[in-house]
Amino acid sequence: MPRDLVQRFQLARRDPQLAVLEGFHALKHAARFGAELGPIATTDPDGLAELAASLAPDVAATLARAEIVDPEVLGSLAPRAPRTGVMAIAARPTVDLAAVLADARPAPIVLLEDPRTMGNMGACVRVAAGAGAAAVLTTGTTDPWQPDAIRGAAGLHFALPVARLDRPLPPLGERPLLAIDPEGDDLDPARLPSRAILAFGTERHGLTDDLLAATDAHIRIPMEPGVSSLNLATSVAAVLYAWRLAAGPPGHD
Ligand SMILES: C[S@@+](CC[C@H](N)C(=O)[O-])C[C@H]1O[C@@H](n2cnc3c(N)ncnc32)[C@H](O)[C@@H]1O
Repeated sequence: MPRDLVQRFQLARRDPQLAVLEGFHALKHAARFGAELGPIATTDPDGLAELAASLAPDVAATLARAEIVDPEVLGSLAPRAPRTGVMAIAARPTVDLAAVLADARPAPIVLLEDPRTMGNMGACVRVAAGAGAAAVLTTGTTDPWQPDAIRGAAGLHFALPVARLDRPLPPLGERPLLAIDPEGDDLDPARLPSRAILAFGTERHGLTDDLLAATDAHIRIPMEPGVSSLNLATSVAAVLYAWRLAAGPPGHD
């Protein structure tokens, strides 16, 4: 059985329809937001039951079906075995881009241009889920569903659509496209359109000229003199929460 399990995790890492969940929080959120879960492996069923009882009683029954594995087996399932001693495989939800763009709710979409650092990308997904964004879309070659990104997002990929777009970008509908860029005009939270697409650039080089040219406005998060830029996920958090606090809670737009 462990050999079969190891093989399933190895194959899942290469399967674009599956997601590998490393650690308790990724599994908790996946279960809470309705992921279709495959095998769950744990080295410590009692510890898992305790974590579930204290942090996620709503999904404790789902987590209770975890298979017990030796620490060496768990260590072979991931480059860095999670400290919580639990891993799982889930099906990735299908993302319908047309439906995402047409979503009538007053909530912005986060567009990350070619993000490179998966933990940081995951943090963007986490804050987008927390603030109530409609989706996180990425460009570039990096898969936003890599296990490190899911780990950085604490599994919140299952709370909202997350997908990679091919370049050139497909038509993005009637939503305003805003560049979030240190060279832009100062952010005015009350004037952020609720259904905007907020475009953020890569960690090192910022937004490409192509994307800057395609945007309707360039918006800057104010910074003190001498500070060149904020971290990507911090920028996403600042803009989304500026929007969220100005707009009020969902349903009060
Ligand atoms: C680490 S920054 C990139 C820095 C890059 N050297 C530049 O000048 O754009 C990554 C992304 O975070 C966003 N960002 C960081 N600080 C910002 C600020 N003060 N105002 C607006 N956007 C910012 C932008 O979208 C930027 O492309």
